[in-house]
Amino acid sequence: MAWTQYEAVARDGDLVQLLGKRHKSHIIRLRAGAVFQTHRGELRHDDIIGKPWGTRLVSHTGSPFFLMRPGLSDLITQIKRNTQIMYPKDIGYIVMIMGIGPGVRVLEAGTGSGALTTAFAYLVGDSGKVISYERREQMQNLARNNLRNLDLLDRVELKSGDILDGFDERDMDAIFLDIPNPYDYIPQVKASLKLGGFLGTILPTTNQVSRMLAALYADDFAFIEVCEIMLRFYKPDYERLRPTDRMVAHTGYLVFARSVMERPVDDLSDNTMEENNVS
Ligand SMILES: C[S@@+](CC[C@H](N)C(=O)[O-])C[C@H]1O[C@@H](n2cnc3c(N)ncnc32)[C@H](O)[C@@H]1O
Repeated sequence: MAWTQYEAVARDGDLVQLLGKRHKSHIIRLRAGAVFQTHRGELRHDDIIGKPWGTRLVSHTGSPFFLMRPGLSDLITQIKRNTQIMYPKDIGYIVMIMGIGPGVRVLEAGTGSGALTTAFAYLVGDSGKVISYERREQMQNLARNNLRNLDLLDRVELKSGDILDGFDERDMDAIFLDIPNPYDYIPQVKASLKLGGFLGTILPTTNQVSRMLAALYADDFAFIEVCEIMLRFYKPDYERLRPTDRMVAHTGYLVFARSVMERPVDDLSDNTMEENNVS
């Protein structure tokens, strides 16, 4: 049964989150007879199975843990990784803009550790499909294990190879590129994306964004949008409410575009942030 189908209490086989002191999070799969071990002591899975969500559990050394269903953001930030991964703040906006939801067919490159793949697979449901290209076998194996651990592998087709050779698929609803040089693959994207489909990418520097824009304007892409997502956390103290001391200042710039039959001539002036998104 898929991990998203939870009942009122934690069952054998469920993916659960144990939240300890200072929000320390552990995500584990419950297995009858198994033991969860941390430096804050042990918890027997048998003592967790059957407990309602939100239950306060205590390890054998007296440390408290709360039993929770993991959120998508928890699953993504805690996956095993060998690469830079995409973060929830960016993924959240990407999936909104690119219309990722049940039944959608989305393609991505590169797979990396599979963080973005996880979010896509979660959202497309059993009726959708994620196709993910990766040129390094070692990365693909890691992503495969990560997806299998989350019961999401059935929704994903992992493909080996360099996207320089193009994609096998046609008529994709959306394509996302998280690779260093996405601007070199615009013809490959164009060939595989539905007309009207969404292209998205993330780039760490502005000069890469400029190269991306030049490549998009040289092909039939329109409704181009460039943005970055800033997220600021606050200390949740109602008597001294203020921002946390540190924040992630930069992850990357997001660039989105739509595939069209013929690019409008006034593209540059027509698609500013002011007109598109500020409301
Ligand atoms: C930053 S990682 C992707 C991280 C991923 N989005 C995640 O959230 O875990 C970039 C990956 O793209 C792969 N890659 C780079 N260029 C590629 C290409 N031309 N074809 C296929 N994969 C490529 C790299 O091997 C690397 O694993």
